[in-house]
Amino acid sequence: MQIDGKNYRTIWPDPIDPGVINIIDQRHLPHQLIIERLRTPEQAAIAIAEMHVRGAPLIGATAAWGMYLAAFHYPGNADFKRYLAEVFGLLKATRPTAVNLVYALNRIKKLLQSPFQQEKITANIRNEAEKITEESVEQCHAIGQHGLSVIRKLSEKKGRDPIQVLTHCNAGWLACIDYGTATAPIYLAQQEGIPIHVWVDETRPRNQGARLTAYELGQAGVPHTIITDNAGGHLMQHGRVDMVLVGTDRTSRQGDVANKVGTYLKALAAYDNHIPFYVAAPSSSIDWTISDGLKEIEIEERGEEEVKYISGRDTFGKINKVLLCPADSPASNYAFDVTPARLVTGLITERGICEANEPAMVALFPEFSTT
Ligand code: MRU
Repeated sequence: MQIDGKNYRTIWPDPIDPGVINIIDQRHLPHQLIIERLRTPEQAAIAIAEMHVRGAPLIGATAAWGMYLAAFHYPGNADFKRYLAEVFGLLKATRPTAVNLVYALNRIKKLLQSPFQQEKITANIRNEAEKITEESVEQCHAIGQHGLSVIRKLSEKKGRDPIQVLTHCNAGWLACIDYGTATAPIYLAQQEGIPIHVWVDETRPRNQGARLTAYELGQAGVPHTIITDNAGGHLMQHGRVDMVLVGTDRTSRQGDVANKVGTYLKALAAYDNHIPFYVAAPSSSIDWTISDGLKEIEIEERGEEEVKYISGRDTFGKINKVLLCPADSPASNYAFDVTPARLVTGLITERGICEANEPAMVALFPEFSTT
């Protein structure tokens, strides 16, 4: 996608130095575009844990490239494979909810089982990290095409008025490598000339909607309006939302969806107002090892300072961080919630759209059938 007319991805190997992986440090958006150069797996782990990069597919890709950095810069003072196993543990511990992290790391881990030595394994890891990255781009594009068919149908019914999409958090290209999952159908609809407008939940506490989704929609020229997290229900009651479209960090095999905290409340409001609630779910975000999302998905809890402080550009143009609440009040920070499958109209995967239940999901992904 483009920033100020220039093509970017969220992560890319340095074209000159093979020991460097570049990322957009998203903590500074929308005010500053800062590229960070990752040189070590520890830096990759910090980038994920402290959310320089975020969003399930991008977390997975960054972990894979982190393993590559470990192999490339192997210090030589430990057993190579044991060292990589330690780095695997370090990266795996960074964020618990997005299954893409384990998905990508497990693909790299498989390569360590080969009899090859450092040089060949390093080359194989780089190859695999590239594949994971490219597959994410392809999956997002395919999700875009399937999701576009939903938007097209809504638009045919509605006539010339814009389709009103409500989205939560950032499941855009900044959360992936390119296109995004939930935003891909929106970008394709726009390209096709379908009038479209996006309600962007601000998404407290880190404001990924207000900071990132609004930024990327703005860069792409998609009409949008930032709303407070609590406004969605009101808009739905008044017929001002045609569909809800969100991403996922982990979807269970029965179709329960973990996504940014607050997603569940949007699903409840959509259900009550008979508004379709779609989840853009690449297969890399489906956890086939679990069924009951509510019981089995670990919900990340982050530090209270994210709730208590907010940062942004002040009226003098300086980036500042301010305290929002009594300094002594405790705060809790649940980063995700689980939307039960019964509230989900459909999962938009790279292979097509299906209902959020095991038979429908397995029909699209027969390789995960247990029978
Ligand atoms: O905490 P974040 O910013 O990593 O959370 C991101 C989300 O919740 C996204 O909706 C999800 O990862 C899907 S990204 C395509």
